Amino acid sequence: MYLNTRERRHLRNLLAPLAQRPEVQQMKQFTQHGRVSTYEHCRRVTERSYWLSLRLGWKVDEPALVTGALLHDFYLYDWHDKRPGGKLHGFTHPAAACENARRVFGISKKEQGIIRSHMWPLTLFHAPVCREAWLVSLADKWCSVEETLAGRKKN
Ligand SMILES: [Fe+2]
Ligand SMILES: [Fe+2]
Repeated sequence: MYLNTRERRHLRNLLAPLAQRPEVQQMKQFTQHGRVSTYEHCRRVTERSYWLSLRLGWKVDEPALVTGALLHDFYLYDWHDKRPGGKLHGFTHPAAACENARRVFGISKKEQGIIRSHMWPLTLFHAPVCREAWLVSLADKWCSVEETLAGRKKN
């Protein structure tokens, strides 16, 4: 979105330690929407969440916001593959992403909540309970629609 230079630099500094990890870079192998990889999608959702927090003037836990946003789709498979239960991807992947993030990075309970609730209201029993989770859930829906529409236009 439209982050200024200072905001962009700040976000880059917050993101760098996690984004450079090879486990996170693995998300480049998987397609999310259209021609957008899961890694690129997660970067876009992180930037959009951060942008929303600034423009809404919400005080947020920035490290939790950035970690939750970057790892919200850290499920590490291609959801387009035909696999048992593949149709249930929308319902099941937040739990898979959360478990991977917990195992690999030992993320906090708050960060786990952000990941678990990002598909709400699809995941009925995992609603966002903090402002960081609301921001990631909203940014994810916004970016997903944009990426899907952009993919259709080019096809
Ligand atoms: Fe997702
Ligand atoms: Fe997503």
